[in-house]
Amino acid sequence: MSNSFLHIYVCLLILITGCSGTRIHQYDAIYSGTPWLDNNGNTVSARGACIVKEGNRYYLFGELKSDEGNDFVGFSCYSSKDLYNWKFEKIALPQQKNGKLGPGRVGERPKVMKCPKTGEFIMYMHVDSTNYKDQYVGYAVSNTIDGEYTFKGALLFEGKPIKKWDLSTYQDTDGSGYVLTHSGNVYKLSDDYKSATKHLLDEPDTMHGEAPAIIKKNGVYFWLTSGLTSWERNDNFYYTATSLAGPWKDQGYFAPEGTLTHNSQTTFVLPIYGSNDTTYLFMGDRWSYPIQHSAATYVWQPLEVNSATLHLPYYEKWNVDLKTGKWANTEITGKTVLANDATIKYSGNWKQETENNINVFRSNTKGDSFSLNFTGSRVVLYGVSQSDGGYAIVTVKDAEGNVVANSTIEMYSKVTNHSPKYVSPMFKKGIYTLELTVLGKHGNWTNKRKDTFGSTDNYISLEKIIVTE
Ligand code: DGJ
Repeated sequence: MSNSFLHIYVCLLILITGCSGTRIHQYDAIYSGTPWLDNNGNTVSARGACIVKEGNRYYLFGELKSDEGNDFVGFSCYSSKDLYNWKFEKIALPQQKNGKLGPGRVGERPKVMKCPKTGEFIMYMHVDSTNYKDQYVGYAVSNTIDGEYTFKGALLFEGKPIKKWDLSTYQDTDGSGYVLTHSGNVYKLSDDYKSATKHLLDEPDTMHGEAPAIIKKNGVYFWLTSGLTSWERNDNFYYTATSLAGPWKDQGYFAPEGTLTHNSQTTFVLPIYGSNDTTYLFMGDRWSYPIQHSAATYVWQPLEVNSATLHLPYYEKWNVDLKTGKWANTEITGKTVLANDATIKYSGNWKQETENNINVFRSNTKGDSFSLNFTGSRVVLYGVSQSDGGYAIVTVKDAEGNVVANSTIEMYSKVTNHSPKYVSPMFKKGIYTLELTVLGKHGNWTNKRKDTFGSTDNYISLEKIIVTE
């Protein structure tokens, strides 16, 4: 093979693998609360998302976000065959040159449905000003699922915009389409899905909450929703009914009380119908304002749907068989390196503390770091999220010192939470170095009343590292 051809081949290989050829594939399961990398080695950035199945692929639509605040920069589109590995398709709806989704505006919670009558793909979204005082339900249209979608402005009901904030969509088994919004509103859509024809449910006094999502099983509708706490997490709750028009019965929390819905907020539930069973994929956002593009993560878990009750467990790693529709809790296995292991090289003011009889090493000082040389194919970093948690950069380098993976992680939670904070992509087995550097900053924000929320400090707390052979 001539040198010039070899050079072209290596360049192509690097282009395809997004790095120096060490990456075999990204992920072998669904991991919650950790940044995911797409096929280009970039962070999967799809917040307030939904998933639509078209053919043999799943399409993920979400808010692209930035690390500087909350202005709308576009709605992203990724695709996947396994729900574990995501290919960046395109910005399905870019920031408009001006107008309601132009610069300095807010666009949230994109939800896409395919119209049975026309075959068009319709995207609905919350459109607003940055102070959340110019809200309405907007929509956009495309002939192909991945877009580019054409923004059409406000979805009209009786000729007027629906001036609501958080929304979602629901397509019933008869193909009829609905837009639902916070506080218990349901609008039935026209046959072409481009206007609302009936205000089926008009925010009854018995309903409240934002970030809605609806599923149906055996004739029972489940309405999942969250409390109103800005970007802060809370214990989300749900209602049940046998008609979208209600009455809706308050059923309380669907995740264990006090877990703050496993530190997430509802955005969508994807039914995965198989030959033997149906998995209801709960999709939650673990917001991380303001570093939402890089550090916000996903809490995707199998929602247990019984006759009229829901339960949301939390598995560090789990798989779903897309043919049978069955899911399984799978373990993260490998060699455990505890935080006080001598092979971990710390630099800076790390303090050893004991949390619930677990040894952790903590630092809140910008620039403090640790590293671990390992031989293996994947590395998982377990940390402790607490009310004083902050941000860090995690990098994996190969034996030649090339960066083969790079992510921002966060360790903030109002309630103490021990769990994986970083799961690397799967690499070709070899010698690598995991490095973490404390950023010395943390997430915080204010609500409309200027109450402050978020972390009180910048701590990173390491519990252990698991190296997979
Ligand atoms: C909570 C909503 O669910 C989010 O979509 C976003 O609008 C934040 N509030 C903004 O504070």
